[in-house]
Amino acid sequence: MITEEIKKDVRKGMIVLDVGAGDLKLAKKLVNKGALVDAIDIVIPTNPLSEVNFFKASFEEIPSILINKKYDMVIALNSLQFCDKTFALNVLLPLFMEILKEGGRLYLETFLKKPTGFFPKIKSFYSLKDFEKFGTVVYGVEDYEEDHKINRHVPVGIHFTDCIIEKPKNTMIYST
Ligand SMILES: C[S@@+](CC[C@H](N)C(=O)[O-])C[C@H]1O[C@@H](n2cnc3c(N)ncnc32)[C@H](O)[C@@H]1O
Repeated sequence: MITEEIKKDVRKGMIVLDVGAGDLKLAKKLVNKGALVDAIDIVIPTNPLSEVNFFKASFEEIPSILINKKYDMVIALNSLQFCDKTFALNVLLPLFMEILKEGGRLYLETFLKKPTGFFPKIKSFYSLKDFEKFGTVVYGVEDYEEDHKINRHVPVGIHFTDCIIEKPKNTMIYST
């Protein structure tokens, strides 16, 4: 799973951004591993953490709060399906790649296709192809299915796309 990849990759002192961070469960684990974590969500977490720098913002507001920021890891798990896809592909993902340091990684987990059960709020679906143009895909899983119990415990089959994109290192080529 992508969270296992994140836990493997994170190092003490890394600067990490978690977009759509929810209840800060992952952010807390990263802080415990010595990372410095910024988190963004439209909903304020019920149990905020003093160690996490939290910003309350919608996806559309994100560009204005990331000016001059640089990160080793940018994470958006289970959240981009709530964002307008055109905005995600034309604004957010290019911005996430821009704020990554060279060699830094973007970790995405989102919905591949419409869930089988009643699930009204989902706006967008993504395949690996949507992400390939942003950098080097170092990990990609498409179309794995998980059953989730939501909406009064009605089971819903969700097909996910998971992807890790690495920002290339800018290697200078000298010719003589
Ligand atoms: C399914 S939760 C995922 C939380 C966490 N990333 C995880 O994997 O457990 C989706 C998160 O996206 C946030 N979200 C939904 N719409 C949003 C929006 N328009 N702008 C910012 N965050 C949004 C929700 O508040 C929620 O915390």
